[in-house]
Amino acid sequence: MVILSTVDSTNEYAMRETLPHGAVVLAEAQTAGKGRMGRSWYAEAGQNILMSVVLKPERPLHAVQIITLAAAVAVTDAFSDHLAIEGQVKWPNDVLIAGKKICGILTEGQVRGPEFLKLVVGIGCNVNQRPDTLPGDLLYPATSLAAELGETIDRNPLAAQILTSLEKWYQQIISGETAVLFNRWKERCAHLNRAVKIVLDDETREGIFRDVSPKGAAVLLMSDRDILTVTSGDLFWSDQGNEKK
Ligand code: BTN
Repeated sequence: MVILSTVDSTNEYAMRETLPHGAVVLAEAQTAGKGRMGRSWYAEAGQNILMSVVLKPERPLHAVQIITLAAAVAVTDAFSDHLAIEGQVKWPNDVLIAGKKICGILTEGQVRGPEFLKLVVGIGCNVNQRPDTLPGDLLYPATSLAAELGETIDRNPLAAQILTSLEKWYQQIISGETAVLFNRWKERCAHLNRAVKIVLDDETREGIFRDVSPKGAAVLLMSDRDILTVTSGDLFWSDQGNEKK
């Protein structure tokens, strides 16, 4: 385990350093925290969980998205087991509480051909951050555990619990037993069977969110009854604008 007071990004650090399978990089602050799609991740120093886990799969792993889903489920496991608060997952990489984003996951990989040699699973969880100190122009409304629970949360046991749960799901993925993970993800999904739109660049796809594919893509039922599989994008509820609400 590497514990840093300040780093550019725990994901960047974990990608560039030579670290063994299972290594965890934790930081109190990031100067260039990264989100998906080239966005920034904002987090007040010393208040949150900012960590990256290094995975070096023994067997070829072709779908990074499944690891992201597993990490989101691991975060909700830790919320319910450790804090008795129910989180919901939102495709592809968010955890919500009370409809607001509390955690984001960024999985990055070093590839050789079609195989991932090294995966870095970055988890950013708003723990004791005051939501009103976050930038006002975030894509989704945000909250923190302290704001939802009305008390300061001890970060270390929570981070440990997330890691324990992620390890369990990772073992299941590696041994090819993904059914329980997908079921758990769908049980906790904030938008299963709801009308959603998924925006990628200039394209918006709208449909009913029916499922996640074996590779972790979104499966939408379109108005013409066709099924569409969407691998990437930002998901919004259909009755929500693409702006902060
Ligand atoms: C997102 O919601 O877009 C993903 C956010 C991921 C943030 C975490 S914080 C720890 C790790 N280091 C980073 O630079 N990003 C991830």
